[in-house]
Amino acid sequence: MSKTIITQFLSEQGMYYGDLNFETECQKFIAEMEKGLSPEGSSLDMIPTYLSVKNNIDTNVPAVVIDAGGTNFRVGLVSFDDNMKASVNDFSKTRMPGIERELSKQEFFGTLVDYTKEVAAKSSEIGFCFSYPTQINKDKDGLLLRWSKEVKAPEVVGEMIGANLVSGLKAVDGKDRNVAILNDTVATLLGGKGITSEREFDGYIGFIFGTGTNLCYIEDANKITKITDAQDDTMIINTESGAYNKLPRGMMDKALDEASNNPGDYQLEKMISGRYLGPLVEAVLKGAAKEGLFSATCNEKLMSLENLELIDVSLFVAHPHNTENVLVKCVQEPTDTTLMYELIDAMIERAAKISAIKLSACILKTGAGRDQARPVAIVGEGTTFYKLKDYKEKLDYYMKAYLSKNYGHYYEFIQGEDLNLIGTAIAALAH
Ligand code: GLC
Repeated sequence: MSKTIITQFLSEQGMYYGDLNFETECQKFIAEMEKGLSPEGSSLDMIPTYLSVKNNIDTNVPAVVIDAGGTNFRVGLVSFDDNMKASVNDFSKTRMPGIERELSKQEFFGTLVDYTKEVAAKSSEIGFCFSYPTQINKDKDGLLLRWSKEVKAPEVVGEMIGANLVSGLKAVDGKDRNVAILNDTVATLLGGKGITSEREFDGYIGFIFGTGTNLCYIEDANKITKITDAQDDTMIINTESGAYNKLPRGMMDKALDEASNNPGDYQLEKMISGRYLGPLVEAVLKGAAKEGLFSATCNEKLMSLENLELIDVSLFVAHPHNTENVLVKCVQEPTDTTLMYELIDAMIERAAKISAIKLSACILKTGAGRDQARPVAIVGEGTTFYKLKDYKEKLDYYMKAYLSKNYGHYYEFIQGEDLNLIGTAIAALAH
């Protein structure tokens, strides 16, 4: 009974996962990827990285590894022994600058230098995992195209991230340094490749489902028609899939987008990623309460919910009767719990289905993974990927049902510890 109410409500709001046609959405995504690789361009940046997966790595020397993620900022040292075993040392973690308050360019790079100078004294090779849309040049420096994930430091847009950091560090100790900037998806792909060197895969995808969401893959250089200076026959492409704007959006998606720092941009990301899924679930619950779907008291309490975070949502589905939970506190009747659970479950299912659509599109585009013995390795990272209850199982379900069963392409999820840090060190030490 309640399933029908939920399905009907979500469908009316344009938020129901069942109304997304997997095949149609996959084909639309592939078309947008192709356009993005051409001079015409599209909502997918399809950023050339000038990195392939064929480099040699310096061993027994440390690289400084910086990781500027959507929430945290980490810095430490990584080195590889002769067997390519990584050791990860001296890491410290703080908040990503520009999240709590708006920073000027000077403040932003000043903070970066302050956070990194101590560790940067220990090596002149820096790998910088910078998880924002960044145009990479052949020298491996990167120009910030725009911010995503609600970071506020507008003067930094258009700046070279590596050059600014290196000159700031030089002002401290007079030393020159090399820096390689790379996206977190790219770092994760390289890290995953690093830990699976004894395996044979027919391609790699770096997939992040955390504060933001994105994926990168390995493309034939001759298909990247917007550039003519590829150095190898293949190249890793950062799709910036969070910016995709061809999915059908619902009422709550549009309202959340309008209220964000960058209305109109990062439409896919705002529909599913960790930074946005909490507020989106809040909007959906309020919408349902407004229509009187729950019992009277529950409707009232839900309407006055504020700042619901994904962690509370995730804890609710993990334990829907824990009276400490802010959502459980809104419940009046047992049916309220059931309805709430089903609404949230449907939103997690939508996130998984959309993730499966873009991952499948990538694999179908490259034609990889047709041999079950040589599947495509999907290297997955991100707190939401690991911790959001049922997300991974639902993602796997859609991938199996469509990509493998219907299209005959195979994949395997790869996971490991600190893969983006290891991949960043690989980029810093590669030659
Ligand atoms: C956002 C960023 C992208 C990053 C992703 C995952 O989408 O724009 O560069 O890879 O978040 O962190």
